[in-house]
Amino acid sequence: MIALYPGSFDPVTYGHLDIIERASQLFDKLIIVIMENDEKKPAFSSSQRKELLEKCISHLPNVSVKVGSGLTVDFAREHNCQVLIRGVRAVSDYEYEMQLATANMTLQPDIETIFLLARPQYSFLSSSTAKTIAKNGGDLSKFVPEIVAEKLTEIYKISEGN
Ligand code: PNS
Repeated sequence: MIALYPGSFDPVTYGHLDIIERASQLFDKLIIVIMENDEKKPAFSSSQRKELLEKCISHLPNVSVKVGSGLTVDFAREHNCQVLIRGVRAVSDYEYEMQLATANMTLQPDIETIFLLARPQYSFLSSSTAKTIAKNGGDLSKFVPEIVAEKLTEIYKISEGN
């Protein structure tokens, strides 16, 4: 069975990577798809996000990364994915995830969303938190892999210089 893990991954965090590793063990194949979230203005281009994700998942042979457009369920159908994976952290994620999963199941009833609960050490972690820490020169080592931390520091240095 092929699973699809959609998200904005702006940028990928240790929380996402934990979900990716766990989902890759549950399914024959896992496709990560970078989709646009209309509610968010990304800090990284989709090709930068793809490159970072690819570097972080190179040890997982059944995982690949793609950039999508349009609706996630259309991408899932075109790539023969029967399952969507989403990570949930606190109760505060529930409302948003319910809306997303309900819209997706209404659009495409034969595609199931499966939620994986974030490990407690990552339940506070988000891409936005990592960006705020980077903007303010904080220590990113517990939030994102080294290569992501370097890129985050770089983009906020560039924007400070402007
Ligand atoms: O990591 P995020 O930002 O919470 O991921 C949300 C994402 C990108 C998966 C969601 O916004 C999405 O699926 N966008 C593509 C458009 C779509 O299919 N929306 C849901 C049905 S209206």
